[in-house]
Amino acid sequence: MPRSQAETANSFHDFEPDDQDFLSAILKGLSQPQKFIASKFFYDEAGSQLFEAICQLEEYYPTRTELGILERHKGEMAALAGSQCHLVEFGSGSSIKVRILMDALDKPLVYVPIDISRDHLALSAADFARRFPAVTVAAICADYTSDFELPPITDGQYVGFYPGSTIGNFTPEDATGFLRRVKNKLNGGGFLIGVDLVKETAILNAAYDDKKGVTADFNKNLLHRCNRKLAANFDLTQFDHRAFFNETESRIEMHLVSTCRQDVTISGRCFSFEAGESIHTENSYKYTIGGFQELALNSGFTPVKVWTDADQLFSVHYLAAD
Ligand code: AVI
Repeated sequence: MPRSQAETANSFHDFEPDDQDFLSAILKGLSQPQKFIASKFFYDEAGSQLFEAICQLEEYYPTRTELGILERHKGEMAALAGSQCHLVEFGSGSSIKVRILMDALDKPLVYVPIDISRDHLALSAADFARRFPAVTVAAICADYTSDFELPPITDGQYVGFYPGSTIGNFTPEDATGFLRRVKNKLNGGGFLIGVDLVKETAILNAAYDDKKGVTADFNKNLLHRCNRKLAANFDLTQFDHRAFFNETESRIEMHLVSTCRQDVTISGRCFSFEAGESIHTENSYKYTIGGFQELALNSGFTPVKVWTDADQLFSVHYLAAD
């Protein structure tokens, strides 16, 4: 059977980081006075599945709220993206939210999903290509904060898509650096980005410490990943999940707290924990609309339009990379 135009044009570029990068990051992070593991290491196969389960939780409002905003305003978003756009998704995961936009966009030419997990990316890129055969898929397996080339553009413009408020997982300083690099890559196009908003502390705390304990499992999976991949011997029963809103920093912090004095070995290196000592595993910054627009301006973007839900829980911004 002859292969379709879309099948022949599709491509996959692989720059997945290896276990050596993971080991170096863990050894470095656990040697700091406040032990630290970067949240990007949550997302192995098990972690990605747990994250998808988090997105279904009653307490975790961001996913359903952002989906509602996209659904309600996709027409306006598509009009800003223009005809024949090259849609570039940073951290594409299962490529589900992007489908809402695809239904509204005018003749989109290319979809560029970028994700760190090779297997997940290959599956979701193939699924996307089946659903949207007229769109060329140019998948890039990479840490999207690193340097990579976007496929060259002939017609239309690049439009970046970064849903889920993942920007909140950077410090504001790192977010500015990341946005500046994205702005240069988008080369005059646009950027559609989801940003979680500051709200009542009880709602925030519940979203990161759910009753079923799924977020606790997601957090502890980091230790499990170290045991599996780095010959570590973390005892998962001797670490507790802790999540709280730090008002001064305007961020949720997640930690893994050692319940006793203990030593842990990782690839032959020993790390001591006092009872109550924690590994800081994630920050999730919450912004006001004005606060985020200021960050965008400082990164070289021009805020064009912002949409929110009726309860002002979440926001989606369209920024111009001009
Ligand atoms: C991916 N990121 C935006 C999520 C968040 O809300 O910061 C990760 C997460 N951590 C715990 N629950 C969800």
